[in-house]
Amino acid sequence: MVRALGIAVIGFGWMGRVHTRAYARVAHHYPGLGVRPEPVAVAEEVPGRAEEAAARFGFASATRDWRDVAADPRVEAVSVTAPNFLHREIGTAMAAAGKHLWIEKPVGLTLADARAVADAAATAGVHGAVGFNYRNAPAVETARELIASGDLGTVTHARFRLFSDYAAHPDGALTWRYERAHGGSGVLADLASHGADLARFLLGDITELVADSAVFVPHRPRPTGATAGHARAAGGATGAVENEDYAGCLLRFASGARGVLEACRVSVGEQNAYGFEVHGTRGALFWDFRRMNELGVSRGTAYQDQPVSTVYTGPGDGEFGAFQPGAANAMGYDDLKVIEAYRFLRSIDEDRPYGTTLADAVHSAAVLEAMAASVRSGTWTGVRTP
Ligand code: NAI
Repeated sequence: MVRALGIAVIGFGWMGRVHTRAYARVAHHYPGLGVRPEPVAVAEEVPGRAEEAAARFGFASATRDWRDVAADPRVEAVSVTAPNFLHREIGTAMAAAGKHLWIEKPVGLTLADARAVADAAATAGVHGAVGFNYRNAPAVETARELIASGDLGTVTHARFRLFSDYAAHPDGALTWRYERAHGGSGVLADLASHGADLARFLLGDITELVADSAVFVPHRPRPTGATAGHARAAGGATGAVENEDYAGCLLRFASGARGVLEACRVSVGEQNAYGFEVHGTRGALFWDFRRMNELGVSRGTAYQDQPVSTVYTGPGDGEFGAFQPGAANAMGYDDLKVIEAYRFLRSIDEDRPYGTTLADAVHSAAVLEAMAASVRSGTWTGVRTP
């Protein structure tokens, strides 16, 4: 018997839409799931945006005040897709109200915020999933298996890169992302948070790091109206960018492996250039989100001049089989969110965690905090593993 499960979405910008679409598609891809998400409520502070969301996406009710969602007994699970500075307040309130949480990364502005949301969920006994979607890519899951199986030998070093141009245009509006009070850190929160999660997902805990950061576009025009995603503005007043555009970091893993994590939001010529290279004593793996259904694999006993093959993901890789019948039918970004929704709802249905949890957000936030501390001190800094 499939049970209806009331869901709500708070913050209907880019991620709010993506989460809503993911809930709608879950039953198509996972017919065996024991719950069916019902869009009960949407909360959005921009006037009219919640009503438009309800009309287009089928929510039964719309509000400008997210507190209405906490008080709504029809709602069992909530997507928190509002800006970072609201994650802690909304996340802890929803947990206290007994709502399961699917919350976007980085889960607050600081490690303390991520911890507070994780603690609130643990106290309330609700499940918490986090938007670290790149680890859901079937090629990434296969990479993890290949590493764990020892196919590459011992992992020696790895590089994680997250370059984008979404903030490169000088007219890119000074939205919440560029303000400390609303976005927290800059590219650390936006992109390096994903990199820290991927690094740990593949290679285990990071123990120490040394980091550098920079602001390359120091002033931006203030937006003249409501924004969503990466809006442009021009001609009006400008304001100071308060957080970093670029972060570069050397990593030491508990395994002894070494790594590089580099993230930049103002890289002209780079669009979603997210990926990794992992090197072991006998092999290597290469992955790029822009070709996310391909995994570069070098395995064997040659050591030198060992070939690299491009493997197209197929039904044997991660959740690929829930989306396409045969290898090389490409999956896309939204599919990663359907997988995330599925694992979140399955956690609720079976009352045991599947996929990302709030503990993963705490780990990622601990790495970001260590990076910020290292930038300030200019020295190697330990990661305060929770
Ligand atoms: P956005 O700016 O497009 O959307 C945020 C929405 O929240 C806006 O519509 C805004 O009006 C609304 N909002 C602001 N204050 C509110 C309040 N008090 N109550 C209700 N709604 C409110 O931002 P975007 O890109 O959707 O980012 C949202 C979150 O998702 C951020 O935490 C971000 O880090 C994360 N994100 C994750 C991505 C991923 O790949 N996992 C990609 C992009 C963003």
